[in-house]
Amino acid sequence: MRSAAPTEELLRVAFADAQAMADLPRYRILYEAVRRAILSQQLVAGARLPSTRELARDLGVSRNTVLSTFEALLAEGYLVARTGSGTFVAHAAAAPKGRGRRPADVARAASDAARSGPEALSRRGIRLARFQGGRRLEIQPICNAEADFTLFPMKQWQRLQSRQLRQGHLELLDYATKGGFAPLRRAIADYLRTSRAVRVEVEQVVLTAGTQHSLDLCAQLLADVGDTVWMEEPGYWGARCIFEACDLKIEPVAVDAEGMNPGLAPRGSRPRLIYLTPSNQYPMGVAMSLARRRALLQIATRERAWIVEDDYDSELRYSGRPLASLQGLDAEQRVVYVGTFSKVLYPGIKIGYMVVPPALAESFHSALYDLQRPGQLTVQAALADFIERGYFATHIRRLRQAYAERRELLAAVLNSQLGRIGQITSQAAGLHLVVRLSDGLDDRRVQALAAERGTTVRALSQYFIGPASASGLVVGFGYAAPDKLATHGRLLGQAVRAALRC
Ligand SMILES: Cc1ncc(COP(=O)(O)O)c(C=O)c1O
Repeated sequence: MRSAAPTEELLRVAFADAQAMADLPRYRILYEAVRRAILSQQLVAGARLPSTRELARDLGVSRNTVLSTFEALLAEGYLVARTGSGTFVAHAAAAPKGRGRRPADVARAASDAARSGPEALSRRGIRLARFQGGRRLEIQPICNAEADFTLFPMKQWQRLQSRQLRQGHLELLDYATKGGFAPLRRAIADYLRTSRAVRVEVEQVVLTAGTQHSLDLCAQLLADVGDTVWMEEPGYWGARCIFEACDLKIEPVAVDAEGMNPGLAPRGSRPRLIYLTPSNQYPMGVAMSLARRRALLQIATRERAWIVEDDYDSELRYSGRPLASLQGLDAEQRVVYVGTFSKVLYPGIKIGYMVVPPALAESFHSALYDLQRPGQLTVQAALADFIERGYFATHIRRLRQAYAERRELLAAVLNSQLGRIGQITSQAAGLHLVVRLSDGLDDRRVQALAAERGTTVRALSQYFIGPASASGLVVGFGYAAPDKLATHGRLLGQAVRAALRC
């Protein structure tokens, strides 16, 4: 039998100890084990870790588990990868005991304590704390879903905000009632009617703090604990997090080239909510066909279910005619249309909106007030000005042009780098494109190899709730300047070719 090297032995013991956290996924258990070994200096700075293959064999876990763990520890700076020589404990990570604890460590220690102490988190709390979607969202050049904030007309925006404050309308310092600042709701209704074919009167518009908040209100007001929600598979992790928090039963429904395919829903499933992104499916980047739209509307009518249409980035289409909303086809008033300013202005603005069926408007307005006590009227007033003066339309035209060029550039680099190994399958829209990898290529392996080369992309398989039925990469083009896109596109090409050789 092979005699164990000290590092391997240490990791085996640490992993066995950490198994006490049995309610966590295996990669999280391994992650905690390695992290604790580093912080307690059992693993010292510069120590070389075994290869992912060796460690997986040694611990009896899958290679993907080890790859995910290493990827997280590399991203957080506990480990460093040196091409050709392996993975090592980072010098910066090995802070002396009691000193230099990083905020993330302090927070994690607090959450460990919460889990084991007398005031332990609720079961829901444990599920949510484990989710950690945000950890995957650091801004990186070709990381998906990031916009380029440098394109935002900051000066104009500052002027409009200062103007609101200078005018000193005291009523704007109050809570927002009746769904938010009326002129902004009016401006949004006008915009949606003409550009998205949404059937809307001002009373139906509800201003929220973004899509997450809109989805939370929909889940709380339209579904009860244990009700079924259909979600696209693969789909948006942010929506999943909300539905889990509201204790809904999530049933993933597979997406194909025509969008969500209700024919593949579990037999006998009776949805109360159907959440989808029909204009630009997230993450696959396909548009839902008219036949599917009609089929879903029929199902919603038959089941008395509510459709939640997340139209998060429909302004950003780079070819063909703009698509009309699903809500605009709905004669039965079963659709809640959800939009956001996160992608076209900036995420931190935290303003989104819903168009709810007329019969629900009053209930949504009052529940929003009672649950949230919303405010931000001065920002809402500045945004109303921004739209009414035509700045919004000009800004969107500018974004479209810039992002269309970046998408084309990235697509050209990836096509030349990947050839037949990777095919771009997403439509020309949004802020990312999807590359489907040829059979047998493990997308998480490519993600890890790309990270080793200093570039961050997302493996498509991470967006599945159940077993992934496709291997691919979700690659962003919104954030990076064109020269960076070309460099990172090439690095990604190298990572894919390296994965082929493994
Ligand atoms: C599918 C989808 N919907 C909505 C959003 C925006 O959410 P919010 O308005 O909460 O920023 C995102 C952000 O990435 C998204 O990917």
